[in-house]
Amino acid sequence: MNSKRILVTAALPYANGPVHIGHLAGCYLPADIYVRYQRAQKRDVQFICGSDEHGVPITIRAMKEGITPQQVVDKYHAIIKDSFAQMGISFDIYSRTSSTTHHATAQAFFKKLYDDGAFETRESEQYFDEEKQMFLADRYIIGTCPVCSNPNAYGDQCEKCGSTLSPEQLINPRSALSNAPLVKRLTQHWYFPLNKYEDFLKEWIVEGKKDEWKPNVYGQCKSWLDSGLQPRAMTRDSNWGVPVPIDGADGKVLYVWFDAPIGYISATKELLPQSWEQYWKDPETKLVHFIGKDNIVFHCIIFPAMLKAHGGFILPDNVPANEFLNIEGEKVSTSRNWAVWVNEYLTDFPEQQDILRYVLCANAPETKDNDFTWKEFQTRNNSELVDKFGNYVNRVMVLTHKLCGGKVPKWHPEVATEQDRTLINEIQLAKVKIETAIEGYKFRDALFELIELSRKGNVFLQEKAPWKEASGIEKGTFNDDEKIIAQQRIDNCLFVALQLTANLAILANPFLPFTAKKICSMLKVVERMLDWENAGKVDLLKIGYSMRAPELLFRKIEDSEIEAQILKLKAGLIASTVTPAAEEEKDVNKIATLKPEITIDDFTKIDLRTGTILHAEKVEKADKLLKLEIDLGFETRTILSGIALHFSPEEIIGKQVVVVANLAPRKMRGIESKGMILMAENESGKLVFVSPQEAVNNGAEVK
Ligand code: MF3
Ligand code: ZN
Repeated sequence: MNSKRILVTAALPYANGPVHIGHLAGCYLPADIYVRYQRAQKRDVQFICGSDEHGVPITIRAMKEGITPQQVVDKYHAIIKDSFAQMGISFDIYSRTSSTTHHATAQAFFKKLYDDGAFETRESEQYFDEEKQMFLADRYIIGTCPVCSNPNAYGDQCEKCGSTLSPEQLINPRSALSNAPLVKRLTQHWYFPLNKYEDFLKEWIVEGKKDEWKPNVYGQCKSWLDSGLQPRAMTRDSNWGVPVPIDGADGKVLYVWFDAPIGYISATKELLPQSWEQYWKDPETKLVHFIGKDNIVFHCIIFPAMLKAHGGFILPDNVPANEFLNIEGEKVSTSRNWAVWVNEYLTDFPEQQDILRYVLCANAPETKDNDFTWKEFQTRNNSELVDKFGNYVNRVMVLTHKLCGGKVPKWHPEVATEQDRTLINEIQLAKVKIETAIEGYKFRDALFELIELSRKGNVFLQEKAPWKEASGIEKGTFNDDEKIIAQQRIDNCLFVALQLTANLAILANPFLPFTAKKICSMLKVVERMLDWENAGKVDLLKIGYSMRAPELLFRKIEDSEIEAQILKLKAGLIASTVTPAAEEEKDVNKIATLKPEITIDDFTKIDLRTGTILHAEKVEKADKLLKLEIDLGFETRTILSGIALHFSPEEIIGKQVVVVANLAPRKMRGIESKGMILMAENESGKLVFVSPQEAVNNGAEVK
């Protein structure tokens, strides 16, 4: 557990748009809390991040905005970097994968694996746009969705019905760039045989890490390993990315998930040119990757296998991935603009970073997806930050100025009470609980303990009620001795209360750094007081020391502010769904527009035959596809059909169907499909078979 140094990474965000609060809650905020805590512990820790500037997400954004990929990454790198800095996410470096150091580092990494014979080359047929003279990434291929017949489905996904697709499943694929129909061309890529690392990964994760890692992370790894790993292409045909550093690889770049995690190494090099190797190679370094759940396989399976293949690198000690944060009950969608953007929050709530940090941590999706609502944002702020934490600190400061001349009062052991000792004990207990929780990546629990401690402070003040003693002195009902004792009681109460205030600053610092600083300023102490070793001490503020005037730490959030945010969210959504909404309208009529007229000769080119489904089964790793064996009378055909979401294999065996029998064969998922089944769609989107009214011989022509 006690490592010499800690290297913390946070997932490199794609520089294809601003960051939203889901990113913060999932990855950057927990990482920052962890790092700030470790720094306060005076441990040797480095916090690494940067922009992920390659891959299809960037080129798609460029296409949408009509600018170059370089312009895209320059624009969003600046916006993202600024949002993080303003939110107090305290990276030691925020680099970018377009840096020369990164290109060189990623290329050298690839080259080493290549020279060691770690890759397998494979040829495959990929869609090629002859007009643009380039191979197309899945996203750049548009065609008709085999599930819902949306004519504008993408090669990786249909945005209408949500199906995950592969380009092979699209009907009439065409290029998103030129609109030209596509041809298949042979291309060669370098595959990393993950299957060869299965034993290593099983030993490391299944036997080694299961108790340390979060159940959601371990569970995902286990299911990947159980279903068996496949070789994965580590290169792509593209002109945007890190060029593949070997001869004869023109027009090829490293797969973005190959180069991006190496970005952690490149950034460490840039930060620490002399000593970066200690952080990546010395087994006494503890490496921790903070990520969102969609990144688990890359950080727990692929990158570790790459590091292992390369040799000489340490592996992550932990990968504390969070789940997702929904917004107002709905999944975040950047394309529908259903998100709370951090840069907009900072404009709408200036100087209120700690409120957001607080709410996102208190409600972090640590073990399951969680929901962010503006109402909860308001409630948590008003009833926890303002009423408990802020109120406590403010009362202590005001009372000290009123009853003790703004100076740290004396401690009088002779009038000490059980309550004083109990509160001091609570401070020490809270320190240990917070420490344990942070080290176990349980940031919500840690934050809860902090607020609990401030609540106990309020109870303490209420019970001691120093204002009562003060009014006794004022009213002149006390004799001289009684006056002295009353003032001593006041002193003791505020002495302890002030020490708790200082402790709250230390314990809050990882979570609410802006607030911790403000408290230091009010107490007129240097920020060095925030060192973790000071937590639990009750002599932090020296007797007689005079402090600054109180300032409110937090402000209430008004209903009107919340309403404005909800309105903004909804208005933003409408603005960006103009196109899909219009399409949906068309849906209501359910009548597709008629295709251009054809001649009888065009029609007779199509050879339609009747056939009977003899056998049906699911296709592995393709949730939409069924593999059918069809008796056409003169032969039995294998046909793949995208109907698996509509029918179970059992229910369609024996059905007579109509088959396009002379359709050019196509390969999907390694299986050749010879023909197509005719289907119609009912008004609720369910597919139904087009079948002869009465049984006919298989192989009969349909004319
Ligand atoms: N850009 C990726 C995403 O946003 C994360 C990359 S993490 C890294 O999902 F390890 F590859 F850097
Ligand atoms: Zn679809």
